[in-house]
Amino acid sequence: MIFERVATGGCRSYLIGCEDTCAAALIDPESSLIDRYLALANHHGLRIRQLIDTHTHADHFSAARQLAARLDIPVLMHQASPERFVDMRLGDGESIALGKLRLNVMHTPGHTRDSMCLQVENRLFTGDTLLIGGTGRTDLPTGDPRALYDSLFNRLLRLDPALEVYPAHEYKNRDHTTLGQEIRQNPRLQKRDLGEFVEMMRNLNLSMPTHLTEALRTNLSGGKPIAQLLSEATALVSFMSLDELKARVDSHDAELLVLDVRERDAYAAGHIPGARHLPRGQLELRVNEALPDPTLRILTVCEFGRVSILAAATLRQIGFQRAIALDGGMKAWREAGHPLESSAPPQ
Ligand SMILES: [Fe+2]
Repeated sequence: MIFERVATGGCRSYLIGCEDTCAAALIDPESSLIDRYLALANHHGLRIRQLIDTHTHADHFSAARQLAARLDIPVLMHQASPERFVDMRLGDGESIALGKLRLNVMHTPGHTRDSMCLQVENRLFTGDTLLIGGTGRTDLPTGDPRALYDSLFNRLLRLDPALEVYPAHEYKNRDHTTLGQEIRQNPRLQKRDLGEFVEMMRNLNLSMPTHLTEALRTNLSGGKPIAQLLSEATALVSFMSLDELKARVDSHDAELLVLDVRERDAYAAGHIPGARHLPRGQLELRVNEALPDPTLRILTVCEFGRVSILAAATLRQIGFQRAIALDGGMKAWREAGHPLESSAPPQ
């Protein structure tokens, strides 16, 4: 078996490949690591054939659908998954063929209703059901501490204690552990009585994960996280630095049109000398009258340098092929002590 572990923040994904056939599966891919997965598969001469999410993630952005579209391969999840874009729904006790490897599916609800664990040879991919020294939480949507107790004590922990545990999260950079070690040392597994276990899980008082609603929304619908929208827009435009823009403003570069896309009040309070005003919210509707020449070199400016990227990408998409964005925003321009002009935009 060819095996790679990919970590980002506390999230873990795993690439598993069959040495004989070069078929591979990717478990719990995360949207910021797509290039890394593809590079790793290439490096090992593997072809990714299946994408598996161990459960509906509330705390990271799944790359499964995006990769599925790009590679034309299926997304696999447990049949209880509420996600609409699952191509192949799996049931407890089934197995997935990956070349000569077999991935055995175990339905282990508790962290979520659709949680599953996968066993491949001596490795057990536990998703968020069992973590190293911990378990998944049960207070997020579809979580259920009684179900988790059952999945752990009546299923997982009865397997061969020598099995290696590879969770979907690990915050202390430990590579893996074994079931036996977890049974002995994992503090949550010391509560072997159902009532005590449920009581403990109900009183963890964990803070909500960052991006909870955005992750659930995008993972369930196939929509794009905001970070992905921004990174796609970033790849579509080029940038000009603050210093370069300052030099061009000083020399009254007639070729460059600086377009301030902030709201009217922000523009009026102080903008780059000579900048025109067209708020991002009105860009598409007013662009024909405001910018009749599509050959203009337009530089978009906003407060922090993010909305301007989206505005420049929109301009490029509608035919302004020389639209660029300021690398930074008005905040950085002001902090650098560069000149400001204050005047209300024409109505
Ligand atoms: Fe999770």
